[in-house]
Amino acid sequence: MRKPIIAANWKMNKGPSETEDFLTSFLSKLGKATDKCDIVVAPPFVSLPKASQILHSHDVSVAAQNVSQYDAGAYTGEVNVLMLRELFVPYVILGHSERRSVFGESDEVINAKMLKAREVNLKPIFCIGETLEERESGQLEAVLKRQVNEGLKGFSEKDMLETVVAYEPVWAIGTGVTASPEQAQEAHAKVRVLLAELFGGDVADKVRIQYGGSVKPANAAELLSQPDIDGALVGGASLEVASFLQLIENGTNKGE
Ligand code: 13P
Repeated sequence: MRKPIIAANWKMNKGPSETEDFLTSFLSKLGKATDKCDIVVAPPFVSLPKASQILHSHDVSVAAQNVSQYDAGAYTGEVNVLMLRELFVPYVILGHSERRSVFGESDEVINAKMLKAREVNLKPIFCIGETLEERESGQLEAVLKRQVNEGLKGFSEKDMLETVVAYEPVWAIGTGVTASPEQAQEAHAKVRVLLAELFGGDVADKVRIQYGGSVKPANAAELLSQPDIDGALVGGASLEVASFLQLIENGTNKGE
């Protein structure tokens, strides 16, 4: 039984004071939601110390949105894995489509970051997903296969078990267009087969695969009730306390 994992990717929103305001309010209203799902919040780098300080005594985890593939040195503007460990950050989002398309990160760079993260036991939230053009030209499977095979090169079974996969079709991110539950389930099932090919069925069965792309309170229950959808990676709807809480509530109760 895979425990769902719901993560807030705030992207380039919320500095330290907004982070503090959000988390204080969020924690005061969260109740027992973490009995049913793991919750992760990924603020920008500058807000990680504040988030980590507030969350360390709570059952909500912090994620960074990126990390360097390099160790310390002359890499202006970068943050390395040890710096994240020093802040007690357990998760890091890697391979996000915005990193791939806006910042030109290749599968090879993403793989280097994935391996670097695992050197210090950071847990990657490994994002994959196709563009609309790729989907419409029948390349969905090939794209997912390439991203999975290249991004996870050199991973052991243990590394894979410490990784969360996020399937985020690029055409659904920030567009208000969500993949239908059937489309999402189909893609998730394909990803699980790809993981089974690389790591065996037992490992693939245990890995959590989140869906991301315009997840809202209104569609969370239907998406998360699909058999291979084990959580959500949420952008826009995670920026307001009320909407993120409602999404968690709907996603974990699944209409019960
Ligand atoms: P939206 O929920 O705003 O579509 O963003 C999804 C996303 O990119 C999460 O990583």
